[in-house]
Amino acid sequence: MNQNVIIIGASGYGRVVADIVRCVGDRVLGFLDDRTDITQWVGAPVLGPVSDYANYLDTPMIVAIGNQDIRQRIVETLKGVRWYTAIHPQAVIAADATVGAGSAVMAGCILNSGAEAGQHCILNTGAIIEHDCRIADYAHVSVGAKVAGTVCIGQKTWVGIGAVISNNLSVCENTVIGAGAVVVRTITESGTYVGVPARRIK
Ligand SMILES: CC(C)(COP(=O)(O)OP(=O)(O)OC[C@H]1O[C@@H](n2cnc3c(N)ncnc32)[C@H](O)[C@@H]1OP(=O)(O)O)[C@@H](O)C(=O)NCCC(=O)NCCS
Repeated sequence: MNQNVIIIGASGYGRVVADIVRCVGDRVLGFLDDRTDITQWVGAPVLGPVSDYANYLDTPMIVAIGNQDIRQRIVETLKGVRWYTAIHPQAVIAADATVGAGSAVMAGCILNSGAEAGQHCILNTGAIIEHDCRIADYAHVSVGAKVAGTVCIGQKTWVGIGAVISNNLSVCENTVIGAGAVVVRTITESGTYVGVPARRIK
């Protein structure tokens, strides 16, 4: 507590992460962002481009960029960084659930007993991730999505807003589940799935 944090990405997601940092009593030292048109973002300085990260290696960082591919690329490019995990105080995380380094858990998210979220995930506002789920690195469970018990979500998969995934299923890596989709079968081919029941469109 009461530590400085650097947020990579001065955008809407960065704004939400900054709020979490402040809610838990930590301090946003600043943002790193390649945009050159802003010097301040939500009350903190934009310190410079992402490539300046090496000047701040004593400060934990979090990549607040929604695109999974970009998030992964930045994480893998930056060497020697201590990753900050942002968990909103109004998220409900079971005592035996785990959240990996660099992930963000927004307000109202529930991560129930035995669930495991990997590194650099986004567990967004009001998302429900039930018992014994496995959420792989860089996955994003969007606002209000519901993931039933014992579901596996693959690396970099994006579960859209309000989507539902029925219990005991798997969704493979690099897959998009569209807004409001209902997944009732295991998905083994990466792609984009929408509708009720969810069907592949791309
Ligand atoms: C699934 C999604 C990624 C597809 O986006 P896209 O690749 O740009 O696809 P398009 O918009 O070209 O749509 C292709 C077709 O699928 C349909 N479609 C797209 N998203 C759909 C959805 N969620 N449910 C049902 N149908 C959908 C479109 O109507 C279109 O149908 P048509 O060809 O008959 O006109 C996007 O629509 C979506 O749902 N994104 C999730 C957004 C989200 O959750 N944001 C919250 C962040 S916290």
